[in-house]
Amino acid sequence: MPRVFSGIQPTGDLHIGNWLGAVRNWVTLQSEVEAIYSVVDLHSVIGGYDPGSLASRTQDMAIGLLAAGIDPDRAILFVQSHVPEHAELQWLLTTLTPLGELERMTQFKDKSQRLESIPAGLLCYPILQAADILLYHADQVPVGEDQAQHLELTREIARRWNAAFAPKQPFFPEPQALMTPARRILGLDGQAKMSKSLGNTIGLLEDEEAIGKKLRPAVTDPARVTKRDPGDPTVCNIFTLHQHFSPPETVAHVAQQCRSAGWGCLDCKKVLAEQIAGTLAPIRDRAGELKADPGRVEDALRDGAAKARTIARETMVEVRERMGLWQPRRR
Ligand code: TRP
Repeated sequence: MPRVFSGIQPTGDLHIGNWLGAVRNWVTLQSEVEAIYSVVDLHSVIGGYDPGSLASRTQDMAIGLLAAGIDPDRAILFVQSHVPEHAELQWLLTTLTPLGELERMTQFKDKSQRLESIPAGLLCYPILQAADILLYHADQVPVGEDQAQHLELTREIARRWNAAFAPKQPFFPEPQALMTPARRILGLDGQAKMSKSLGNTIGLLEDEEAIGKKLRPAVTDPARVTKRDPGDPTVCNIFTLHQHFSPPETVAHVAQQCRSAGWGCLDCKKVLAEQIAGTLAPIRDRAGELKADPGRVEDALRDGAAKARTIARETMVEVRERMGLWQPRRR
């Protein structure tokens, strides 16, 4: 059975972009492959983060994943920093990754441009990601397009390590990217990818009223100035969201009402708020139960970390040995 690894940063509550673009697919995968998922907190301590809220963001992310249907009996779910081998392998991999390749990463170029002083961690971020994946010998990695370059680097790191330390038979498999089926979900601004840091999201756990409030100012077909102008659903992000959340007959009705100017955008948004809230109601209910029982969440993550660590330890024994580190013999 192929093994899949993926990670998500602890941004706090999941939003519908995370869900449509990634997490829903993670849930499907857990019954098809051996799935390992991590809340990657070490990735999020780079430069200017808020230490006071990191723990609760990590916990909330875990709750969101469990509520969305990640099942600890089928998938391994854990917090990255609970398995210290990630950081250890990362260090060992930094020693054979050329600086030039790291500097060429587009995400590094984007992020470093805005900074006066660039933390080395920002540069090494993709090596930690490679360590996450290689530690578990993952064959496939579900990621969005924006991570394709990091995955290619992971493959190169695996190749380079194999060539240096396992020349006869590759030790690390070169992981394949599993591009997520849903195209990237735009935020309520209709412009940029939905992202917590841009404040253009709808949270997975928001209720109908909150969703309605956020949808009201959301961007629609820009050519539709008044209610009486007919609209073009194919250029409207609200219509795209209908396609993700509403049943086919509603989608068809919405398109027809938009083209004929039968409905104004607010009518359309009201129906969308109902549909999103209705679709997500079971997730919201489960999250409520989990929030009321933090011990259950902690137990699930502790178990997850123990399972992950069993695999990670084995990998590291082999890695240390092949890299020539002296290890006392196991008794
Ligand atoms: N860098 C990824 C992102 O921002 C998160 C991540 C960290 C990840 N480690 C990973 C994704 C390993 C896949 C595999 O989305």
